Amino acid sequence: MDSLISLHNVSAGYEPNQAVLRNINLDIKQNDFIGIIGPNGGGKSTLLKVILGLLPIQKGKLNYAWKNNKHYIGYLPQSNEIDTKFPIKVSEVVLSGIMGSKSYFGKYSKSDKNKANELLDKLGLTEYKNNTIGELSGGQRQRAFLGRAIINKPSVLILDEPNTYVDKHFEGELYNMLSELNKEMAILLVSHDIGTISPIIKTIACVNEELHYHNSNKISEKVLSTYKCPIELVAHGHVPHRVLNQH
Ligand SMILES: Nc1ncnc2c1ncn2[C@@H]1O[C@H](COP(=O)(O)OP(=O)(O)O)[C@@H](O)[C@H]1O
Ligand SMILES: [Mg+2]
Repeated sequence: MDSLISLHNVSAGYEPNQAVLRNINLDIKQNDFIGIIGPNGGGKSTLLKVILGLLPIQKGKLNYAWKNNKHYIGYLPQSNEIDTKFPIKVSEVVLSGIMGSKSYFGKYSKSDKNKANELLDKLGLTEYKNNTIGELSGGQRQRAFLGRAIINKPSVLILDEPNTYVDKHFEGELYNMLSELNKEMAILLVSHDIGTISPIIKTIACVNEELHYHNSNKISEKVLSTYKCPIELVAHGHVPHRVLNQH
């Protein structure tokens, strides 16, 4: 199967001659569900920015299966990158996900608005639709941005730690929703909690300057250490509690 997005020996970073990511190889195909794990500062968010075309690569090749990438990737940034003071309403956040496929000054149609309302309902945000994002809790805000990321039915959905604030009740719903969406789109999910995401992801990418691809949704401490990818394995259900040391 052809890749939707492929990275071949990609190096990237923020300063010339200072690579944060080195020799990254990754193929993203239809219906993939890749869990991206790794230590803090290992380069997970940077990898997403490379894939989104927000950070130019220093070496290697980055290919998209389409000509104009912007319309086909949905992105939920890590919560610390969301400007909570920006005076935008919840309904507008969700609708703004449609912008990419429209001319910038295009008005939203009735059907766009219906789509947004449906999503707001699904995300449990209907009663907050006229609030500004600064008035929401962290979890509610992440849900609003999730709505923004999926409203346009992207081919690839990229989520950077969407479960940071999400309450336990919504976490289950979020994962059900992602499993459902995965039937229609490839998903890349960064998480610090491999235990909870393990049942929904299909494969694992360990990112710590380099990327090690693991063709299964389960991973042992031993394999993580051969990947030089120290993370915390936290207990969830039947997953045993193991905490790895940083080295
Ligand atoms: N905008 C930036 N400018 C310079 N350095 C950055 C920037 N963003 C991240 N970094 C550096 O890149 C490295 C990887 O960061 P990041 O991709 O955010 O890691 P992760 O998401 O795995 O925690 C870190 O050393 C971080 O300090
Ligand atoms: Mg990050």
